[in-house]
Amino acid sequence: PLRLAVFVSGSGSNLQALIDATEAGQLPGIEIALVICNRPGAQGLQRALNHKLPAIYLPWKNREEAERRATALIDLFHIDLIVLAGWMRIFNPDFTAQYPQRMINLHPALLPDNAEETYTTSDGSVIPALRGLHVVQRAIDAGLKITGSTVHYVIPEVDAGPVLLRSEVAIEPDDDEERLQTRIKEHEHLLVVEAVRKYQYQLDTKKK
Ligand code: GAR
Repeated sequence: PLRLAVFVSGSGSNLQALIDATEAGQLPGIEIALVICNRPGAQGLQRALNHKLPAIYLPWKNREEAERRATALIDLFHIDLIVLAGWMRIFNPDFTAQYPQRMINLHPALLPDNAEETYTTSDGSVIPALRGLHVVQRAIDAGLKITGSTVHYVIPEVDAGPVLLRSEVAIEPDDDEERLQTRIKEHEHLLVVEAVRKYQYQLDTKKK
């Protein structure tokens, strides 16, 4: 099977979507082999434990030390693909560089391919590439009609790797950050599962 390590920092609802899909047999050939969380007591950690998955709290105070331990764990658990699902820490470039094409990130905004600064939505509007933090609020502040979520490969530049999959989400006039975030997450729960499936499919067709 394709062995996943899922990195989480908070509520872990996207981790839950992956767990549910694997348990329901919707991700054949995929196993969640490890969950890493940088916050003690995070709900994401508890979700992993509830499903008897190997779950490790890895404090992120000293980044070099934390990344050394993460690398060792990824080796030890024979991880094929790292999924950043609500992971709120930035890696050193040399950590990221160890996993070319083997680490994907879920980001709660629409990102263009590569380093472009804008993205054109399905209705033809050109919107700014919202990278970094607080992008749900920033989408509202920018007066966008459409935002969404993106799964992309992780490269050393933050939120800038090649895109695997996106999902558009309409912004309603009365949306605040919380409402919109909730709706984006509903889309993400499908998107993250679909992205892992697509990754596996691409890997399989490359091997043949
Ligand atoms: C998700 O919306 C994800 O896109 C976002 O955090 C949320 C995690 O939700 N990720 C980032 O902002 C990454 N910088 P979850 O913990 O319930 O899965």
